[in-house]
Amino acid sequence: MCGIIGYSGPLNAKKILLEGLSQLEYRGYDSAGIAYFDTDSNIRLVKKTGKVANLKEYCSQFKDNAHCGIGHTRWATHGDVTDQNAHPHQAGKVTLIHNGIIENYRALTDSYHLEGTLKSQTDSEVAAWVLDSLYEGNPMEAIRRLLPCLEGSYSFCILFKDHPGELYAVRSVSPLVAAYTRSGALIASDLTALIPYTRRYFVVPEGQIVKLTPYQITLYDKNQVPAQPEYLEVNWNIDSAMKNGFPHFMLKEIYEQPEALRNTILPRMSRGLPDFTDDQIPDSVFETCNKVHVIACGTAMHAGMVARALMEPLLRIPVTVSIASEFRYEEPLIDGDALVIVISQSGETIDTLAAMRLAKSYGSKTLAIVNVKGSTIARESDYTLYTHAGPEIAVASTKAYSVQLAALYLIGCRMAYVRGRYSSQEACDFLSKLLDVIPAMETMIGRKEEEKALVTHLIQHSDAFFIGRGRDYAFSLEGALKLKEISYIHAEAYAAGELKHGTIALITDQSPVIAIATQEHVFSKVISNVREVKARGAFVILLTKQSAVMDESLADFHIRIPDVEDVFTVFPIAVILQLIAYYASLGKNLDVDQPRNLAKSVTVE
Ligand code: G6P
Repeated sequence: MCGIIGYSGPLNAKKILLEGLSQLEYRGYDSAGIAYFDTDSNIRLVKKTGKVANLKEYCSQFKDNAHCGIGHTRWATHGDVTDQNAHPHQAGKVTLIHNGIIENYRALTDSYHLEGTLKSQTDSEVAAWVLDSLYEGNPMEAIRRLLPCLEGSYSFCILFKDHPGELYAVRSVSPLVAAYTRSGALIASDLTALIPYTRRYFVVPEGQIVKLTPYQITLYDKNQVPAQPEYLEVNWNIDSAMKNGFPHFMLKEIYEQPEALRNTILPRMSRGLPDFTDDQIPDSVFETCNKVHVIACGTAMHAGMVARALMEPLLRIPVTVSIASEFRYEEPLIDGDALVIVISQSGETIDTLAAMRLAKSYGSKTLAIVNVKGSTIARESDYTLYTHAGPEIAVASTKAYSVQLAALYLIGCRMAYVRGRYSSQEACDFLSKLLDVIPAMETMIGRKEEEKALVTHLIQHSDAFFIGRGRDYAFSLEGALKLKEISYIHAEAYAAGELKHGTIALITDQSPVIAIATQEHVFSKVISNVREVKARGAFVILLTKQSAVMDESLADFHIRIPDVEDVFTVFPIAVILQLIAYYASLGKNLDVDQPRNLAKSVTVE
């Protein structure tokens, strides 16, 4: 959470920082601020509550020229959303921005006698004062001494008043990427801020200090010896991080799903079979395990739930799905024979990372499904399967979900094949059916007017219910999450058979119920549950396959998806659920891409 950018170079630093903050705004958008060396080498600090646009407007009054500075867009953890709590924070000769949480900030406040000195309520300002008190003119030395004092996660970008043109950065857990480009030296919490300038970058290794000057970037290892950064190449271009004519990133990303699926599946097909040779995942990983444990948060966890419904009956081994923040505080029943699949779009979600580390400590093999190249989870897992969705900017995840599913389906198919549960012909058939979901998704995107029409009813209500059985229940969870996060309609997903044990009491006249009935073996059961809510006055939005035969009068609104096999219905259904949430948010005139209180990448616990 929180977007960070730093720059030192020949260009207009203020412009670069402000533009970078706009690119990073999805990481947090409570308040924003910048600090830079002005023409007299003094540090000017400007910070404001609200979005980056607010800060930009405020900054337009300063006509000074700057070539080195830092910028921050905040997702509040410690302290309210106020100008004072916004970053950067200044303490003596130190000005810094911070992403993460300093857990021992209270103890530091006491031991450095900071009560009465602090101007904000943030843990970050405490770190700034501690650093200032350790500073005796040598930035590297002061930072090196600061690190053992801190508990928690952090990435810092720091200016020292008496070192104009220089910028220092360091991190533990929270991400930082850097690059020296033709435009100068850049550092950021996220690649999206770097891709306008370069495609070559490196991930700042934990505990190593980076120094940026207009002429170079130097990385220092833990012994303060210059180290060689390990450069990576991003395969996105700047267009992938722009709206390109779409009114919102979310709609653009919904539209990008067919292409993202092709990019994720096609390079992993060899003679009609899923093949992970290029990903360097040997079949032994799939052959030897006796259980699969999937760990993730949010939408990624919902993708895991759908995969479980595919894998367990197919592989006939236990497949468990855990919420990462729960898993890490349990005593999980895993060992060296378990395959732990970790799913994360960003590759930085702190709970998922911690859960993966825990799984490794139990001796389990870890396979990460990640979208962001070089992210911490990708680097620390034993094996990584990159989804090739390109940057996902809207806070509500869409294309990342479908490519995560595609990756999980590829894994499920390969596992079935190498474990003898699928013949090569069956595995080829499965893969070809997986590819058939792409036109099915395109069809649903083309019919987006249906969702646009149905939300007219939905947005008049403060509650909505999603029901389904089996896989349809797993899809419902994701549908409800999408709706609540961007439309603020309270949405509850319920296993349809469980309705009568409580939730049905909430159904009153015209309550919106989105019923998903795409699974043949429980179709008639779900339809019976639809009758039950209908009998209590519900407004039923029914999602079925094209060929489903039923009493049409049951549904107030009926959307049919192309006839794909039951295991694949998630793909066209996902498009419908995403578009329902999108149009509901739009219909309520809300901020689709940056909903309140949320942030794209959750790097605090
Ligand atoms: C946040 C995002 C969700 C995402 C979840 C997990 O809550 O808003 O869209 O599903 O984090 O993120 P990850 O990057 O680990 O997939």
